[in-house]
Amino acid sequence: MRILQFGRSGQVATAVQAAAREGVEVVALSRAECDLRNPDAIRGAIQAANCDLVLNAAAFTHVDPAESCPDEAFAVNATAPGVMAEACVARDLPLVHLSTDAVFDGLTDRAYVETDEAKPLNVYGRSKLAGERAVLAHPRAVVLRVSWVFSRYGRNYVSFMLRLAREREVLKVVADQFGTPTDGEALAAFLVATAPRWAAAPSGDPTFGLFHFANAGETSRFDFAKTAIDRDPLTRASLEPTTQAAFAEPAPRPPRSPLDTAKLREVFGFAPEPWRSAVERAADRLVATGAIG
Ligand SMILES: NC(=O)c1ccc[n+]([C@@H]2O[C@H](COP(=O)([O-])OP(=O)(O)OC[C@H]3O[C@@H](n4cnc5c(N)ncnc54)[C@H](OP(=O)(O)O)[C@@H]3O)[C@@H](O)[C@H]2O)c1
Repeated sequence: MRILQFGRSGQVATAVQAAAREGVEVVALSRAECDLRNPDAIRGAIQAANCDLVLNAAAFTHVDPAESCPDEAFAVNATAPGVMAEACVARDLPLVHLSTDAVFDGLTDRAYVETDEAKPLNVYGRSKLAGERAVLAHPRAVVLRVSWVFSRYGRNYVSFMLRLAREREVLKVVADQFGTPTDGEALAAFLVATAPRWAAAPSGDPTFGLFHFANAGETSRFDFAKTAIDRDPLTRASLEPTTQAAFAEPAPRPPRSPLDTAKLREVFGFAPEPWRSAVERAADRLVATGAIG
């Protein structure tokens, strides 16, 4: 079983390579090997690949910079996945793609299900929604929407907060934004474990389509950060709650975007772990290895 993966050094891309186990090989392409702004490079990589499944773990993930470079955000997050889907259709390869809670406007009183209307507030969310739609034109495609991804790999919210909490006396954290953290290592393990099933599944199989993947429960950015930094004996900072409005970031964020994972449980029998224990474990690993930042 061989997976061709777009993205090599990103957070999820690294976690998937680490999760690869006997019988599942991951061939990961860096940006230098295949720049997603180049459709011919994408087509060429898929045409030439000796693989059973294609996984797109690459994206333009910089939410604020996307506001000032929408062309690049759309090229990487929308056009490129569409090209992947066409190339996968031509070879009858399944395509697995990752998307985001940022496709929602966050004006909800419950966790979002897959059938809820997507109304992105920013360029990043609009580009990712366009990418989802292009990918789902392929009958053997899977889109997993994830949110607030953390792990021991790459630069992520947990590692970033741990670093800031060591550097600063006071750390202001947004307390009026709510969502579901996603354990990137659990996501990677799920992708690797499920890859053989997708590779064998025909069009129309219930394992294809749109799914939400996140930990169980809902929290605020503030409690997410607090849970992580409370694990570090070298934390200096005291946390102070603040608001999204006070940060005045270029890209508006959904105020509340928890993801309901009932469909994931129903189709795959996957029961997500509560977010708190997963965050504590990742923070403990980051503190133990010193990979903070
Ligand atoms: N992190 C989150 O909180 C979060 C939340 C919701 C959804 N997601 C989604 O989850 C997926 C994985 O995110 P992540 O956290 O692993 O992101 P990440 O750490 O920022 O990694 C993004 C990857 O995309 C690659 N990339 C960017 N532009 C490229 C280009 N033009 N050509 C080729 N590769 C390019 C990067 O390569 P370089 O290393 O060379 O720059 C990097 O490997 C994405 O689809 C993202 O939208 C993430």
